[in-house]
Amino acid sequence: MKENRETTGRENWSGRLGFILAAAGSAIGLGNIWRFPYITGENGGGAFILVYLLCVAIVGLPIMICEITLGRHTQRNPAGCFAMLTPKSSLLSHFLGAGMVLTGIALLVFQSYGWGIAALVLGALVFRKSWRLVGIMGVLTGFLILSYYSVVGGWAIGYAVKAAANQLSFDSMEPAKETFVNFVSNPLPVIGFHLLFMLLCVLIVYKGIQKGIETACKIMVPLLFIIMLMLILRGLTLPGADAGIRFCFTPDFSKLTAQGVLIALSHAFFTLSLGMGAMITYGSYLGKDENIFGAAVWIVALDTLFAILACLMIFPAVFAMGFEASEGPGLLFQVVPAVFHKIPFGPLWAVLFFLLLLMAALSSGISLLEVVTAYLVDERKWPRHQAVVLSGIVIFQLGALCAVSLGDWEAMRGTEKIITACFGGAKASFFDLIDNLTSNWMLPLGGLFIALFTGWIWGVRKAIEEIRHGSKNFADVHLLTLMAGLKDDPSHNGGTHPLTLATLWGIFIRFVCPVAILITFLHTIGWLNLTP
Ligand code: PFF
Repeated sequence: MKENRETTGRENWSGRLGFILAAAGSAIGLGNIWRFPYITGENGGGAFILVYLLCVAIVGLPIMICEITLGRHTQRNPAGCFAMLTPKSSLLSHFLGAGMVLTGIALLVFQSYGWGIAALVLGALVFRKSWRLVGIMGVLTGFLILSYYSVVGGWAIGYAVKAAANQLSFDSMEPAKETFVNFVSNPLPVIGFHLLFMLLCVLIVYKGIQKGIETACKIMVPLLFIIMLMLILRGLTLPGADAGIRFCFTPDFSKLTAQGVLIALSHAFFTLSLGMGAMITYGSYLGKDENIFGAAVWIVALDTLFAILACLMIFPAVFAMGFEASEGPGLLFQVVPAVFHKIPFGPLWAVLFFLLLLMAALSSGISLLEVVTAYLVDERKWPRHQAVVLSGIVIFQLGALCAVSLGDWEAMRGTEKIITACFGGAKASFFDLIDNLTSNWMLPLGGLFIALFTGWIWGVRKAIEEIRHGSKNFADVHLLTLMAGLKDDPSHNGGTHPLTLATLWGIFIRFVCPVAILITFLHTIGWLNLTP
């Protein structure tokens, strides 16, 4: 670990725990507490959770290992990482680029202008920039996600303030809904809270890797866990809470649709912070002798634990109070205040809850800002402080547009035509546009390319060489030997084994992950219909 710092002048995590908590902090966020419970509610509960767990194990974990490995090997931000490893000429990327250009032309001929132009531009870029584009796209995705993420982080601050002022006591859903709609559509206070959230992110990232990000996560992640346990205990002790538990843990597969499976897969990317190089960036500060496989398993397990805990925190309370589980994105901001109103010391619980949401958002927001910062520092040679402050200012401005777009649609006139062209007439706000573009498209697409690049271009062999530092069991011990608890016992470990964690991982990265993601895309575009 020391060796890294001396040879590259790059700051490192203080150790394994610091890295795991920072990366888990990035993964655990609004995705777990706000999004996961409502998509679980909309997709039928237990069965959806099972499918989600499968997606995390099959696609999430292998790509997590991939990103951390790429980062540690290159010690760069995503753009620098791909620039460093991209070969001079790649047949696959030329082939992909040409294919996309041809598809774009075909779409234009069939008068699908939005998709046609998108495919044409992207194809040309893929052809020219080759795999470098994946890294650049990652930095751009981080920039875009943080702009709207920070607005929602601001809502959490706003709601914590409202709860503290006892302005969230509703005895039914209607006033709760009205308050939420009024709150988000009033741009000035929302922009103020969004500014506050961005300031907090800038402040933490400004302090650097160890003093800023690591210290903040070492405080926030354990605190998140404690607050969540308190809220779960409160919810579970309400009369009627068992219906909520049954909803989470009794799988009813008749409620599961193909769409639900696809939602589970794209959520796996979002919640694990995969597909845009956040883990490449965090991995770039990881010491050479740390165990990548072990750390990846920890990060994925912690994130999954928090998602399940979030359901345990919300559904028992929702059912106990007789509310609908399938309330949609408003579940958290509308149902939760109404639930807290009905229990003793409601405002106190509500403040705790929104502080929890704020901390989760903050530990993820800083990782998004770090991606952009690392790019400016590594590639543009900006001083770190300047990079943090300037990217913070620009992201704040884009976020302010997102905030305004939710309230006063008229103020965003001009974007309507672009949005209509891209989304076939469905009216969407700028906020929804960026959310949809990044979570449903850019992250899974980034994940697909990261897997293809590692599996077929950079090569599984080189990746495994990197993982081997700090994790001998990964590549050299037969899986059965390992499962039997014999670890790297030389008497069981002569010669090269065909079945190790490494070979299994290679197969997933080369075949299973790309195919799973491709199926998702084909379904989303409508070229493959999985619905019976
Ligand atoms: N994983 C975060 C969440 O679940 O809220 C969101 C996120 C953070 C996505 C960082 C991507 C990222 F790079």
